[in-house]
Amino acid sequence: MAVREVLRMGHPVLREKARPVEALGSPGLRALVADMKETMAAQDGAGLAAPQIGVGERVVIFGVDQNPRYPDAEAVPFTVLVNPKITMLTREVESDWEGCLSVPGMRGVVPRYTRIRYTGFDEEGNPIDRVAEGFHARVVQHECDHLDGILYPQRMTDMSTFGFTRELFPGEDIADD
Ligand code: NI
Repeated sequence: MAVREVLRMGHPVLREKARPVEALGSPGLRALVADMKETMAAQDGAGLAAPQIGVGERVVIFGVDQNPRYPDAEAVPFTVLVNPKITMLTREVESDWEGCLSVPGMRGVVPRYTRIRYTGFDEEGNPIDRVAEGFHARVVQHECDHLDGILYPQRMTDMSTFGFTRELFPGEDIADD
């Protein structure tokens, strides 16, 4: 296991469509997930997608346990999600702040669907099928976008909200990435 470098916006791997994982439960997939967990923990992130550490495979992890970076956000169960599929369950969208480890030091307001169903597998091949709302749904949409080469600024509809965290939230103790 190792903490891996997180690629930043502009790196070509972050713009590519990731390929499906074919061998669930393989040593290679377990090693990838272990590195992703360690990297996300080291950065105190809410989620991480494999392309962010330079691996173009459809694997995301996410989870929030009263994260100090998101003091108002509800907890999200820690999840490893391989080959995810998202179905929107509403046309209703809600706008809220997002950040990304690949866009360090910045925040922006992003509209996301408020209620989704997501399916996929954990790294051992066990099926996952959940309905999620609110912040949980937002995190899943953000992470799965990474698998299609999309970073959150590409989802923004009001670029005037895009800025540096320390300028947007002066005096608040919010992490810089
Ligand atoms: Ni991100």
